[in-house]
Amino acid sequence: MATNRTFTMLKPDSIEKGYTGAILEKINAAGFKIIALKQTQMTKSDAEVFYEVHKERPFYGDLVTYMTRGSIVAAILEKENAVADFRALIGATNPEDAAEGTIRKAFATSMSENAVHGSDSDENAAIESAFHFSGRDIF
Ligand code: RTP
Ligand code: MG
Repeated sequence: MATNRTFTMLKPDSIEKGYTGAILEKINAAGFKIIALKQTQMTKSDAEVFYEVHKERPFYGDLVTYMTRGSIVAAILEKENAVADFRALIGATNPEDAAEGTIRKAFATSMSENAVHGSDSDENAAIESAFHFSGRDIF
């Protein structure tokens, strides 16, 4: 059964371009409640662990460099059917394929620099949330 929580990061390109407020506004407008939020910077080993599932992929090194080159904004979001609904809100990995009205359509630059992360399962949402937040930071 679907849980009601997902995890997101606004990636370094979003922060560099000053999109933090606009993206959070879109998230709120889509009915997600922000129950944890922080701006932080991932270390190389943080990013290697976070994206370990992609370690054999050709883009892994570039992905780690990208995700650590500046700060990110991490958040836990609550809404019914959160994981699937948030993936729909962010749109396809490649912004060229992302539907009109999605966050990636509006804010992403390329397949590699695509503005936001969204968990792909309830299990990963829980793992990724615990990676960035302790219980006392979740409201
Ligand atoms: P995310 O995990 O960040 O929410 O993205 P996603 O599920 O839509 O895509 P995924 O396949 O999990 O890939 C993770 C991130 O790696 C970068 N990427 N670059 N250059 C490339 O071919 C390529 N493919 C993936 C993107 O930043 C992607 O979001
Ligand atoms: Mg993914």
